[in-house]
Amino acid sequence: MDAAAVIAAHAALGYGGKSVLDGLEFEIPPGSRVGVLGPNGGGKTTLFRALLGEISPLAGSLEVTASISTVAQTDRSRLDYPVSALDVAVMGSLAGMPWWKRPGRAEKRRASEALEKVGLTEQAKSSFGDLSGGQRQRVLIARALTAEAEILLMDEPFTGLDNKSEARLESLIDELARSGQTVMIATHEVEQASRWDLVLCLNRTQISFGRPEEALSKPVLEATYGGHIVEIPGQPDLGVLPAHHHHHD
Ligand SMILES: Nc1ncnc2c1ncn2[C@@H]1O[C@H](COP(=O)(O)OP(=O)(O)O)[C@@H](O)[C@H]1O
Ligand SMILES: [Mg+2]
Repeated sequence: MDAAAVIAAHAALGYGGKSVLDGLEFEIPPGSRVGVLGPNGGGKTTLFRALLGEISPLAGSLEVTASISTVAQTDRSRLDYPVSALDVAVMGSLAGMPWWKRPGRAEKRRASEALEKVGLTEQAKSSFGDLSGGQRQRVLIARALTAEAEILLMDEPFTGLDNKSEARLESLIDELARSGQTVMIATHEVEQASRWDLVLCLNRTQISFGRPEEALSKPVLEATYGGHIVEIPGQPDLGVLPAHHHHHD
Protein backbone atom coordinates (compact mmCIF):
# COMPACT_ATOMS: atom_id res chain seq x y z
CA MET A 1 0.00 0.00 0.00
CA ASP A 2 1.13 3.56 -0.75
CA ALA A 3 1.86 5.88 2.17
CA ALA A 4 -1.37 7.15 3.68
CA ALA A 5 -2.69 10.53 2.53
CA VAL A 6 -4.18 11.30 5.93
CA ILE A 7 -3.31 9.80 9.32
CA ALA A 8 -5.18 10.54 12.53
CA ALA A 9 -3.75 9.26 15.82
CA HIS A 10 -5.67 9.78 19.08
CA ALA A 11 -6.74 13.13 17.68
CA ALA A 12 -9.19 15.46 19.40
CA LEU A 13 -10.53 18.63 17.75
CA GLY A 14 -12.41 21.58 19.09
CA TYR A 15 -12.66 25.29 19.65
CA GLY A 16 -11.34 27.46 22.45
CA GLY A 17 -9.74 24.46 24.10
CA LYS A 18 -13.06 22.58 24.26
CA SER A 19 -13.25 19.30 22.38
CA VAL A 20 -16.18 18.72 20.00
CA LEU A 21 -14.76 15.62 18.30
CA ASP A 22 -12.35 13.06 19.73
CA GLY A 23 -11.06 9.52 19.35
CA LEU A 24 -9.95 10.07 15.74
CA GLU A 25 -7.92 7.08 14.67
CA PHE A 26 -7.64 6.31 10.97
CA GLU A 27 -5.40 6.05 7.92
CA ILE A 28 -6.63 6.94 4.48
CA PRO A 29 -4.77 5.51 1.48
CA PRO A 30 -4.42 7.75 -1.59
CA GLY A 31 -7.10 7.31 -4.22
CA SER A 32 -9.84 6.47 -1.71
CA ARG A 33 -13.39 7.70 -1.71
CA VAL A 34 -14.23 8.29 1.94
CA GLY A 35 -17.77 8.94 3.15
CA VAL A 36 -17.82 11.04 6.31
CA LEU A 37 -21.10 10.35 8.07
CA GLY A 38 -22.64 11.94 11.13
CA PRO A 39 -25.58 13.97 12.37
CA ASN A 40 -25.68 17.75 12.22
CA GLY A 41 -23.19 18.93 14.83
CA GLY A 42 -21.40 15.57 14.73
CA GLY A 43 -18.07 17.14 13.78
CA LYS A 44 -17.77 16.62 10.00
CA THR A 45 -16.98 20.22 9.14
CA THR A 46 -14.68 20.51 12.16
CA LEU A 47 -12.67 17.55 10.84
CA PHE A 48 -12.41 19.22 7.43
CA ARG A 49 -11.28 22.49 9.00
CA ALA A 50 -8.56 20.63 10.88
CA LEU A 51 -7.47 18.81 7.71
CA LEU A 52 -7.15 22.19 5.98
CA GLY A 53 -5.02 23.46 8.84
CA GLU A 54 -7.55 26.08 9.95
CA ILE A 55 -7.60 24.61 13.45
CA SER A 56 -4.98 22.48 15.22
CA PRO A 57 -5.72 19.27 17.12
CA LEU A 58 -6.25 19.79 20.87
CA ALA A 59 -4.68 16.38 21.42
CA GLY A 60 -3.07 13.67 19.32
CA SER A 61 -2.11 14.29 15.71
CA LEU A 62 -3.70 14.74 12.34
CA GLU A 63 -1.21 14.35 9.54
CA VAL A 64 -1.95 15.36 5.96
CA THR A 65 0.81 14.12 3.66
CA ALA A 66 -0.41 15.54 0.35
CA SER A 67 -1.73 18.83 -0.99
CA ILE A 68 -5.30 19.38 0.07
CA SER A 69 -8.14 21.63 -1.05
CA THR A 70 -11.76 22.05 -0.21
CA VAL A 71 -14.47 22.29 -2.83
CA ALA A 72 -16.37 25.34 -1.63
CA GLN A 73 -20.12 25.37 -1.32
CA THR A 74 -21.64 27.05 -4.33
CA ASP A 75 -23.22 30.31 -3.35
CA ARG A 76 -24.85 32.39 -6.05
CA SER A 77 -25.10 35.48 -3.83
CA ARG A 78 -21.37 36.12 -4.10
CA LEU A 79 -21.50 36.09 -7.87
CA ASP A 80 -22.72 39.57 -8.70
CA TYR A 81 -19.75 40.30 -10.92
CA PRO A 82 -19.28 38.45 -14.19
CA VAL A 83 -16.66 35.72 -14.17
CA SER A 84 -16.57 32.82 -16.59
CA ALA A 85 -16.27 29.17 -15.59
CA LEU A 86 -12.73 29.29 -16.98
CA ASP A 87 -11.88 32.35 -14.83
CA VAL A 88 -13.00 30.47 -11.73
CA ALA A 89 -10.99 27.38 -12.69
CA VAL A 90 -7.91 29.56 -13.40
CA MET A 91 -8.18 30.96 -9.85
CA GLY A 92 -7.00 27.57 -8.64
CA SER A 93 -3.51 28.32 -9.90
CA LEU A 94 -3.24 31.67 -8.07
CA ALA A 95 -2.30 30.19 -4.68
CA GLY A 96 0.87 28.71 -6.14
CA MET A 97 1.96 31.90 -7.90
CA PRO A 98 3.97 34.90 -6.71
CA TRP A 99 1.79 37.93 -6.08
CA TRP A 100 3.20 39.90 -8.98
CA LYS A 101 2.42 37.32 -11.63
CA ARG A 102 -0.80 37.04 -13.60
CA PRO A 103 -2.17 33.73 -14.85
CA GLY A 104 -0.77 33.07 -18.30
CA ARG A 105 -1.17 30.56 -21.06
CA ALA A 106 0.06 27.59 -18.98
CA GLU A 107 -2.39 28.32 -16.17
CA LYS A 108 -5.25 28.72 -18.64
CA ARG A 109 -4.36 25.44 -20.27
CA ARG A 110 -4.37 23.67 -16.91
CA ALA A 111 -7.73 25.22 -16.08
CA SER A 112 -9.15 24.11 -19.46
CA GLU A 113 -7.93 20.58 -18.84
CA ALA A 114 -9.57 20.61 -15.44
CA LEU A 115 -12.85 21.82 -16.96
CA GLU A 116 -12.61 19.03 -19.50
CA LYS A 117 -12.13 16.52 -16.71
CA VAL A 118 -15.33 17.64 -15.00
CA GLY A 119 -17.22 17.61 -18.31
CA LEU A 120 -17.63 21.36 -18.74
CA THR A 121 -15.54 22.19 -21.80
CA GLU A 122 -18.57 23.67 -23.55
CA GLN A 123 -19.39 25.90 -20.57
CA ALA A 124 -15.86 27.37 -20.23
CA LYS A 125 -16.96 30.79 -21.43
CA SER A 126 -20.32 30.76 -19.68
CA SER A 127 -20.85 33.10 -16.78
CA PHE A 128 -20.36 31.16 -13.53
CA GLY A 129 -23.50 32.67 -12.03
CA ASP A 130 -25.62 31.41 -14.94
CA LEU A 131 -24.64 27.77 -14.46
CA SER A 132 -26.80 25.28 -12.58
CA GLY A 133 -25.87 24.33 -9.01
CA GLY A 134 -24.40 21.04 -10.18
CA GLN A 135 -22.36 22.72 -12.89
CA ARG A 136 -21.05 25.38 -10.51
CA GLN A 137 -20.00 22.63 -8.16
CA ARG A 138 -18.06 20.94 -10.94
CA VAL A 139 -16.37 24.24 -11.81
CA LEU A 140 -15.25 24.48 -8.17
CA ILE A 141 -13.91 20.93 -8.39
CA ALA A 142 -12.03 22.01 -11.53
CA ARG A 143 -10.59 24.94 -9.57
CA ALA A 144 -9.30 22.50 -6.92
CA LEU A 145 -7.83 20.31 -9.67
CA THR A 146 -6.12 23.36 -11.18
CA ALA A 147 -4.60 23.98 -7.75
CA GLU A 148 -3.24 20.43 -8.08
CA ALA A 149 -4.77 19.29 -4.84
CA GLU A 150 -4.29 15.58 -4.25
CA ILE A 151 -6.87 15.43 -1.50
CA LEU A 152 -10.28 16.96 -2.14
CA LEU A 153 -12.72 17.70 0.64
CA MET A 154 -16.39 18.03 -0.23
CA ASP A 155 -18.66 19.17 2.57
CA GLU A 156 -22.18 17.96 1.82
CA PRO A 157 -21.82 18.50 -1.93
CA PHE A 158 -25.08 16.73 -2.74
CA THR A 159 -27.26 19.16 -0.81
CA GLY A 160 -29.63 20.86 -3.22
CA LEU A 161 -28.58 18.91 -6.33
CA ASP A 162 -31.17 17.33 -8.60
CA ASN A 163 -30.93 13.60 -9.37
CA LYS A 164 -29.06 14.10 -12.61
CA SER A 165 -26.42 16.37 -11.07
CA GLU A 166 -26.13 13.98 -8.15
CA ALA A 167 -25.43 11.02 -10.45
CA ARG A 168 -22.98 13.10 -12.41
CA LEU A 169 -21.10 14.19 -9.27
CA GLU A 170 -21.00 10.60 -8.04
CA SER A 171 -19.38 9.37 -11.22
CA LEU A 172 -16.96 12.30 -11.18
CA ILE A 173 -15.91 11.29 -7.65
CA ASP A 174 -15.37 7.73 -8.91
CA GLU A 175 -13.25 9.02 -11.78
CA LEU A 176 -11.15 11.30 -9.55
CA ALA A 177 -10.41 8.41 -7.19
CA ARG A 178 -9.48 6.17 -10.12
CA SER A 179 -6.94 8.77 -11.22
CA GLY A 180 -5.40 8.81 -7.74
CA GLN A 181 -7.17 11.71 -6.03
CA THR A 182 -8.31 11.11 -2.46
CA VAL A 183 -11.84 12.40 -2.00
CA MET A 184 -13.45 12.85 1.40
CA ILE A 185 -17.16 13.57 1.22
CA ALA A 186 -19.34 14.62 4.13
CA THR A 187 -22.78 13.27 3.39
CA HIS A 188 -26.05 12.27 5.03
CA GLU A 189 -26.64 9.47 2.55
CA VAL A 190 -25.60 6.19 4.15
CA GLU A 191 -26.57 4.16 1.13
CA GLN A 192 -24.39 6.31 -1.11
CA ALA A 193 -21.44 6.10 1.30
CA SER A 194 -21.80 2.33 1.37
CA ARG A 195 -20.73 2.30 -2.30
CA TRP A 196 -17.46 4.10 -1.55
CA ASP A 197 -14.14 2.64 -0.34
CA LEU A 198 -14.17 3.77 3.27
CA VAL A 199 -16.57 5.30 5.74
CA LEU A 200 -15.85 7.38 8.81
CA CYS A 201 -18.77 7.67 11.22
CA LEU A 202 -18.65 10.61 13.61
CA ASN A 203 -20.88 11.71 16.45
CA ARG A 204 -18.74 13.94 18.67
CA THR A 205 -16.36 10.97 18.74
CA GLN A 206 -15.26 8.47 16.11
CA ILE A 207 -17.89 5.74 16.06
CA SER A 208 -16.29 3.62 13.34
CA PHE A 209 -13.90 3.64 10.41
CA GLY A 210 -13.25 1.11 7.71
CA ARG A 211 -14.66 -0.50 4.62
CA PRO A 212 -18.43 -0.01 4.47
CA GLU A 213 -19.19 -3.72 4.73
CA GLU A 214 -17.37 -3.82 8.06
CA ALA A 215 -17.77 -0.30 9.40
CA LEU A 216 -21.49 0.22 8.73
CA SER A 217 -23.55 -1.97 11.03
CA LYS A 218 -26.88 -1.30 12.67
CA PRO A 219 -25.28 -0.59 16.09
CA VAL A 220 -22.80 1.77 14.40
CA LEU A 221 -25.59 3.69 12.67
CA GLU A 222 -27.57 3.86 15.89
CA ALA A 223 -24.56 5.28 17.73
CA THR A 224 -23.92 7.68 14.86
CA TYR A 225 -27.42 9.02 14.42
CA GLY A 226 -28.97 8.38 17.83
CA GLY A 227 -32.73 8.55 17.60
CA HIS A 228 -32.78 9.99 14.11
CA ILE A 229 -32.89 6.70 12.26
CA VAL A 230 -35.62 5.07 10.29
CA GLU A 231 -35.92 1.48 9.10
CA ILE A 232 -35.56 1.00 5.36
CA PRO A 233 -37.69 -1.88 4.09
CA GLY A 234 -35.84 -4.28 1.81
CA GLN A 235 -32.40 -3.30 3.19
CA PRO A 236 -31.86 -6.02 5.80
CA ASP A 237 -28.08 -5.72 5.64
CA LEU A 238 -27.95 -2.05 6.35
CA GLY A 239 -31.19 -2.05 8.31
CA VAL A 240 -31.31 1.65 8.98
CA LEU A 241 -30.86 4.90 7.20
CA PRO A 242 -30.94 8.34 8.74
CA ALA A 243 -34.01 10.42 8.14
CA HIS A 244 -33.09 13.00 5.56
CA HIS A 245 -31.66 16.11 7.13
CA HIS A 246 -32.57 19.35 5.49
CA HIS A 247 -30.33 22.12 6.59
CA HIS A 248 -28.14 24.87 5.33
CA ASP A 249 -25.03 26.05 7.16
N1 LIG B 1 -16.31 28.08 15.40
C1 LIG B 1 -16.85 27.31 16.34
N2 LIG B 1 -16.74 27.61 17.66
C2 LIG B 1 -17.28 26.83 18.61
N3 LIG B 1 -17.95 25.69 18.36
C3 LIG B 1 -18.11 25.34 17.07
C4 LIG B 1 -17.57 26.12 16.00
N4 LIG B 1 -17.87 25.51 14.83
C5 LIG B 1 -18.57 24.41 15.16
N5 LIG B 1 -18.72 24.30 16.51
C6 LIG B 1 -19.39 23.21 17.23
O1 LIG B 1 -18.73 22.00 16.95
C7 LIG B 1 -19.68 20.93 16.87
C8 LIG B 1 -19.47 20.20 15.55
O2 LIG B 1 -19.90 21.05 14.50
P1 LIG B 1 -19.61 20.73 12.98
O3 LIG B 1 -18.20 20.30 12.84
O4 LIG B 1 -20.05 21.92 12.21
O5 LIG B 1 -20.57 19.49 12.70
P2 LIG B 1 -21.19 18.96 11.32
O6 LIG B 1 -20.40 19.55 10.20
O7 LIG B 1 -21.08 17.48 11.40
O8 LIG B 1 -22.62 19.40 11.30
C9 LIG B 1 -21.05 21.56 17.02
O9 LIG B 1 -21.48 21.40 18.36
C10 LIG B 1 -20.81 23.01 16.73
O10 LIG B 1 -21.70 23.82 17.45
MG1 LIG C 1 -21.04 20.61 8.54
